[in-house]
Amino acid sequence: MSFNKTNILVTGANGGLGLGICLRLIDDFLKSRNATDTLNIIYTTRSTRKGTDTLKTLQAHLHRYHPSSQHNRATFQAENVELTKLLSVRDLARKLNSSELPQLDAIICNAGIGGWVGLDWFTAIPAILLDIRNNTVWPTFKLGTIGALTKPQLPEGSLADPEPPLGEVFCANLFGHYMLVHWLMPLLRACDDGTPGKIIWVSSLEPQSHHFNRDDLQGLRTDAPYEHGKRLTDILALTSTRSATEKAVASFTSVEGTKSEQAARSVPRQHVYHPGVVVTSVISLYWILQQAYLLGIYLARWVGSPWSNVEPYTAAHGATWLALASEEEIQQAEADAHPAAAAKACKVKWGTTVNRAGRSTVRPTEVDKWGITGSGESFASTWWGGSSGLGRKPGAMEAKAEDVEEFVALGAEVWEEMEELRRDWERRIEESEGNGGA
Ligand SMILES: NC(=O)c1ccc[n+]([C@@H]2O[C@H](COP(=O)([O-])OP(=O)(O)OC[C@H]3O[C@@H](n4cnc5c(N)ncnc54)[C@H](OP(=O)(O)O)[C@@H]3O)[C@@H](O)[C@H]2O)c1
Repeated sequence: MSFNKTNILVTGANGGLGLGICLRLIDDFLKSRNATDTLNIIYTTRSTRKGTDTLKTLQAHLHRYHPSSQHNRATFQAENVELTKLLSVRDLARKLNSSELPQLDAIICNAGIGGWVGLDWFTAIPAILLDIRNNTVWPTFKLGTIGALTKPQLPEGSLADPEPPLGEVFCANLFGHYMLVHWLMPLLRACDDGTPGKIIWVSSLEPQSHHFNRDDLQGLRTDAPYEHGKRLTDILALTSTRSATEKAVASFTSVEGTKSEQAARSVPRQHVYHPGVVVTSVISLYWILQQAYLLGIYLARWVGSPWSNVEPYTAAHGATWLALASEEEIQQAEADAHPAAAAKACKVKWGTTVNRAGRSTVRPTEVDKWGITGSGESFASTWWGGSSGLGRKPGAMEAKAEDVEEFVALGAEVWEEMEELRRDWERRIEESEGNGGA
């Protein structure tokens, strides 16, 4: 009899979607795996108090919904990380790499911020009254901050050159995770070749091609840094299996001089998922407005929006499916997403959809200029929502072969640039360390 232990790391787990993912992981794992298999959820928060509160919630859920015979099948490990501080990210990676953990089966890069300062109510109210179904899913009335930066990363005077700026939204949502994933490669690559580790990037439904500015990787000049960064997330994840990105992806997934023999057993697979619309604290609203927002998202669901998941537990479905399904199951689902997909190295952005009764399903999502699978073939009539289906953004255009070609070329460029940025920060941290700083 085999005793398999699955280790999954979830960032930003003290509330919102991250907590929903952890709770759902417990249920889905205990339901779907052999009675001898166990799950270890390593979850991060930003303080010990939040870590302890989260532990209580996870344990209460396990005890409430599962018989006592199952309780020893799920364990929880609290960790702290502040993703806008690269030294905090490095400390977490170092701690886990030097721990007893034999391998990391999946990392769900959930934590994040919106970077919004409010809503443009004059646009929001008429837009919602006119079309609540679409305007709550693809809103155009959020007000973003321009040019917000993280605090300095390294102690003053520990570098010969001044530190370059690091965008706050970029670092919290993407770059902090990017560094964490890279630094955890020894554990991710320690998985068996048959069951490789998984990197699950958390995106959003919202980003469109116009949100991303190629000349502003960190989104420092845009008033939509959230959407810009989520578009970049989509581009990185969806192009990660193309030959054009091979060199940069190999560099990202390389293991430099750590944990040795175990380290090169497999290469982790990258997936991208979004939760649809969930009512969480990612948008900060007064209590009364939060209640109105909650009602608005329920109304959108009742008038047919398949993306209006409302509750984090429901929305977590796509993330837990990606984390627990076998790689063959995911590849089969990718191939099933379009008849042409099977023949190409196609990747899908997975999302959670919901019906009016609140039942969730994991579905492929249409991505601007990528389509559903990046096959470049016509898909509207074969898509799950049909050509005018409720899950399509109004006015969405099918991605043609040349759109996908451009998307992949952009992917190759941004993969290179992300790798340059990673190496640049690693060099600075090393230099600072050499000078007694980091
Ligand atoms: N809500 C939606 O409708 C929606 C839609 C699409 C995508 N998403 C994505 O879902 C993910 C989770 O969002 P959410 O809606 O659940 O938001 P949330 O309720 O605000 O939760 C965000 C989590 O991330 C943590 N976090 C924020 N900044 C961090 C940092 N610098 N370092 C470490 N942890 C940090 C927060 O910790 P604290 O509690 O300490 O702040 C919290 O645990 C995000 O990636 C978001 O973009 C959400």
